[in-house]
Amino acid sequence: ASEKSFTGKKLYNYQGSWYHPNTLQAILNFKKHFQARDSDIILASLPKSGTTWLKALAFAVVHRNKYAANLVSHPLLSDNPHNLVRFLELDLYVKNQRPDLEELPSPRLFATHMPFQTLHESLRDSPCKVVYVCRNVKDVLVSRWHFRSKLVSNYSLEDTVDEFIKGAYSFGPFHDQVLSYWKESLVNSNPVLFMRYEEMIEKPVAQVMRLADFLGCSFTDEEKQAGTVEKILDLCSLGNLSSLEANKTGTSTCGIAHHAFFRKGGVGDWKNHLTDGMARKLDEMIEKKLEGSGLKFE
Ligand code: A3P
Repeated sequence: ASEKSFTGKKLYNYQGSWYHPNTLQAILNFKKHFQARDSDIILASLPKSGTTWLKALAFAVVHRNKYAANLVSHPLLSDNPHNLVRFLELDLYVKNQRPDLEELPSPRLFATHMPFQTLHESLRDSPCKVVYVCRNVKDVLVSRWHFRSKLVSNYSLEDTVDEFIKGAYSFGPFHDQVLSYWKESLVNSNPVLFMRYEEMIEKPVAQVMRLADFLGCSFTDEEKQAGTVEKILDLCSLGNLSSLEANKTGTSTCGIAHHAFFRKGGVGDWKNHLTDGMARKLDEMIEKKLEGSGLKFE
């Protein structure tokens, strides 16, 4: 099935999600050629849900011993998180590329906006760990509107709300993707960690420790006493990352200006933008779509 997006480009539906043609081609290319390694870590999300933050945190957590003695040389200080953890379908497998990922040391970190069912086919025989981050739909929507407005003119908030209600936007619909990971995270045999942006904002230390536990690199008592978790959080904070020269200038390998990934952050910015009517429409839609799943957004 195909649909026209608000930018006028055609979107294609594949396994329940909508994609620009180039992205869909990259997904098919990825599925054909990607060779999973048991130790791989995949960071999954819908755009604008905290992907950049999760990339930075997971990278810092997994590689912390390499840079413990000398934080000044930490790659996150000189490179954008999207260059350190690359997207499978927006970056590595675009334009029919067949990247040589064999040389990368384990554990390899990758990112994706694909829903679980599409990703899973490629990882089926591997116990790769998947970390999913989600965020409430109204903040995702407002964040997307700001982000897209910088790239496309005449991208109104009304259009964005219509897009979300209809579900036909890149990687949408929101609820189908969120539910695809939510359901898998409830199955004990599947290594899927379900994280929420709001909980990361509210209890960052606990959430980073949860992430490390899941990734099999728990913080030791000595590290906790030495404030390693807090140091990682400071390094990966919105304030710190957005102030670095590496993130103020340049463009990521998927063609987007680094600074576009950092705006305001936090919870509830939708209240400054959405009308009561828009908020109600979105709440009703999400409530209906998530009914019976056990997943709720405050
Ligand atoms: P806002 O537009 O609400 O400010 P993604 O990385 O998935 O594209 O999501 C971008 C959103 O995450 C933006 O939200 C951005 O400001 C916020 N963000 C980026 N880096 C962050 C960080 N280190 N900590 C918290 N939020 C961050």
